[in-house]
Amino acid sequence: MIRRFRWLDLEDILRIEKKAFPKSPYNRFTFLYYASAYRDNFMVYVHEDKGKGLNKIAGYIIFYPEGHIVSIAVHPAYRRRGIGTELVGEVLKVTKGNASVEVRESNEVAKEFYKHLGFSRQSIIPKYYGDEDALLMIK
Ligand SMILES: CC(C)(COP(=O)(O)OP(=O)(O)OC[C@H]1O[C@@H](n2cnc3c(N)ncnc32)[C@H](O)[C@@H]1OP(=O)(O)O)[C@@H](O)C(=O)NCCC(=O)NCCS
Repeated sequence: MIRRFRWLDLEDILRIEKKAFPKSPYNRFTFLYYASAYRDNFMVYVHEDKGKGLNKIAGYIIFYPEGHIVSIAVHPAYRRRGIGTELVGEVLKVTKGNASVEVRESNEVAKEFYKHLGFSRQSIIPKYYGDEDALLMIK
């Protein structure tokens, strides 16, 4: 199930963030900023384990209303199950199919992921991450 971020999700999101971006995780203030400034565009995926009656936050996406993806991450234990695809689907629903994202040049998984979703390389932004270039990918 995908729903809007709630304040109580924050600790789970921070844990996912550290695993997904160990070199440069967003901190809690960054997430709180997006949660208040873009509350309709900060969505979380809740994995429901019906047998155990447990709900776990498995991933999140933050995007700007025009379709630019600010950040997306799925907990390693829940990857390759289509959750990232569903989260990007939230963006495409709002924009009727348009989206863009910057990707670290070295992030092969993310490049494959966006290619699979129909994004293509638009340009390179030199030293976007300070130590590394970004690819701007669009759909
Ligand atoms: C990128 C990320 C969000 C993908 O989430 P996910 O839920 O695993 O993605 P999906 O299951 O929807 O994958 C869709 C497709 O993307 C491609 N893909 C995803 N992970 C891949 C991997 N590790 N290797 C190769 N292709 C991959 C595949 O084509 C996959 O389809 P398939 O499983 O049928 O082969 C996740 O790997 C992640 O959180 N990575 C760390 C954070 C990050 O890099 N975010 C993006 C920054 S721009």
